[in-house]
Amino acid sequence: MAVIQAPGERGSKVPSGRADRTLPRTDMRQRDLHTFPRYEAAVLGFRNYWYPTTWSRSVGRKPVRVRLLGDPIMLYRERGRVYAFYDQCPHRGIPLSVGRQEFAGTWSCRYHGWTFDLESGILTAALTDGPDSPICGKVRARTYPAEDRAGLVWIWMGEGEPSVPVEADIPEEFLKPDAVVCGRITERPGNWRLAAENGYDEAHATYLHRYGAFVTTFQKLPAALITKQGGTLEGPWLWRIPDQVIPEGDYPGLGKWPRRPFWKRGRMWVKIGIRLPCAMVIQRKGTANYAWWEAVDEDTNRYVQLWLDHGSGLKAALFRLKYWLYRKWAWHIQFSNQDAEMIRLMPWTGPERLFRPDASIIAWRQLCEQPRGEEPAAASAPEAPAEQP
Ligand code: FES
Ligand SMILES: [Fe+2]
Repeated sequence: MAVIQAPGERGSKVPSGRADRTLPRTDMRQRDLHTFPRYEAAVLGFRNYWYPTTWSRSVGRKPVRVRLLGDPIMLYRERGRVYAFYDQCPHRGIPLSVGRQEFAGTWSCRYHGWTFDLESGILTAALTDGPDSPICGKVRARTYPAEDRAGLVWIWMGEGEPSVPVEADIPEEFLKPDAVVCGRITERPGNWRLAAENGYDEAHATYLHRYGAFVTTFQKLPAALITKQGGTLEGPWLWRIPDQVIPEGDYPGLGKWPRRPFWKRGRMWVKIGIRLPCAMVIQRKGTANYAWWEAVDEDTNRYVQLWLDHGSGLKAALFRLKYWLYRKWAWHIQFSNQDAEMIRLMPWTGPERLFRPDASIIAWRQLCEQPRGEEPAAASAPEAPAEQP
């Protein structure tokens, strides 16, 4: 996504010595994926988390239909509260989102009028079977805990009651009273894992975004970032840490690269972290740019892009103005469309021969082996590398 700076470099913001624990270096080899069974199985993401799904303002008295981790979900708001139903009637499978409301606090299916309690999902009336219908109270539509926070609707995708409050899955910065959030929510082709890996992928930043991205037109991107370890865990965040930055290289038999036009100035250094279930942060110049890549279905991801700052009054207004006039177009659309195009072109079952900078991807896959609420998987330890990197 962007350029990072190695620890120790002047002006570096990458954490170095304060790590709680450091992930071991993993040697890369062909088809590393099969050493990560949980990750490989997570085609539709990890269940026991809260996911930001849509803007709170877009959910009202008209049902909104979304798909998340493969589940069709109906969102509905009444008296300020947001409710989420599995969008299929337990009677004959009609989407509840085409239904209507007959009584406050309930929702009725469009086909035969089964009427469910918004809070519990329990069938409170089967209208077309009369008031004494014996099936009442015996059927329950699946509901999901849903909460509004930071202007977004967050849905708990685990079974039953949430094992953690919604705040556990929201970066603290969003919960401050003066948080200002601007952003964009779109659905894009590609499995969520390819999209999340791309966000944390180290080497693409200095090549893919070198050409054609407006925001790097006047920036000096280094030739290479050499990584000796995949990242460092601090709380829920895994931070990627290159060991060495090579501004310019003399490639044997080829010559010097990159060639730097005179207008290239300044470096675009940022700090990048990733956490479960699928969130990334890029910190730069006092603002933070967040992303979630959620499984919509096997082949589609929902890209939640949120730019965050803090302030009120004029400061908040200027932040919003800058987002709508520049950052949205330049970063959230033009820059990130370069990533989207790569993800669209990348086959999940394609070849995989990782190289040194992919230590960041390996570290993320390791983190995915320990999702919340799941038994430890019998992950096979990485074997000795087939060859030395
Ligand atoms: S399908 Fe919903 S009430 Fe019959
Ligand atoms: Fe990128």
